[in-house]
Amino acid sequence: MEPPRQKQAGGPLPPHPTLVDYYGSADDRPQFVRELFDATARGYDRIERGMALGWGRWYRREALRRAGLCEGLTVLDVAVGTGLVAREAARLAGDPRLVTGLDPSAGMLREARRQLLLPGVLGVAERLPFPDGSFDMVSLGYGLRHMSDLAVVFGEFARVLAPGGTLCVLELTRPASRAGRAILRVYLRGVVPVLARLRTRNREAAVLMRYFWDTVDACVPPQRILAALDGAGFEGVGWTLAIGIFSEYTARKPGPDRAPRRPPRKPERSNFFVRRMERQPPASRS
Ligand SMILES: C[S@@+](CC[C@H](N)C(=O)[O-])C[C@H]1O[C@@H](n2cnc3c(N)ncnc32)[C@H](O)[C@@H]1O
Repeated sequence: MEPPRQKQAGGPLPPHPTLVDYYGSADDRPQFVRELFDATARGYDRIERGMALGWGRWYRREALRRAGLCEGLTVLDVAVGTGLVAREAARLAGDPRLVTGLDPSAGMLREARRQLLLPGVLGVAERLPFPDGSFDMVSLGYGLRHMSDLAVVFGEFARVLAPGGTLCVLELTRPASRAGRAILRVYLRGVVPVLARLRTRNREAAVLMRYFWDTVDACVPPQRILAALDGAGFEGVGWTLAIGIFSEYTARKPGPDRAPRRPPRKPERSNFFVRRMERQPPASRS
């Protein structure tokens, strides 16, 4: 059974403890992460295709669609990387100029701009360089584990969203079963680094994949993430888990709907692959 969701106690919420095998202290982490992504930016899409077996783009698009992205909405894609989420967001929004990408890695932004004519901004999620209420949706694909403080980041997301705007966060989750963890560990820490090194001839690609697994393994559990979203003032906080690994967190800033009125869609049912884990925010929120 799921442990009860706790209200955020306040204070910083790093997504995982300091990983001393990679960097000395929490203060050194942003530079380590930036250099790692700079060094792997050119081969990143090839690594991702190998890792997600070619399903990554489709999955990102469907997740954005499930979160309510539709034509005409403006999107801030935080941790844009090479633009894998932003490209799908641009397809759904109908115009790449509606999608702004943000990333601290200049190498990643260069790749994103090469592939899509979107406004790309150098910056970090902890201090978003945008006025309050600027976007209809904020998306974040597989970047949560690289940030310093989830409470600060979710506060920033709530600030730059317009009232009624939606947040869509995609992240890998440590499998609940020992067998699932063992399989994912061998795949991400063993198989993918070897393939990535062979395909990209980039030594850093293998480090990136090992770091991926270690951050997934050490990441705070989904209940802490849901509580942090509650704590940042979001409503309708929900969590969907696909094949026990791929988490989608969605939440809404209180206010009138941003999306145009459409006939109600049939609510998605849980099935063998996708489990809807949505729960109501705690009644005690003050
Ligand atoms: C795994 S890539 C994800 C790229 C893309 N969103 C995707 O779906 O594949 C993680 C990205 O997070 C970025 N990142 C790391 N720390 C960040 C921060 N504090 N704020 C915003 N982005 C950050 C990295 O530079 C990197 O481009």
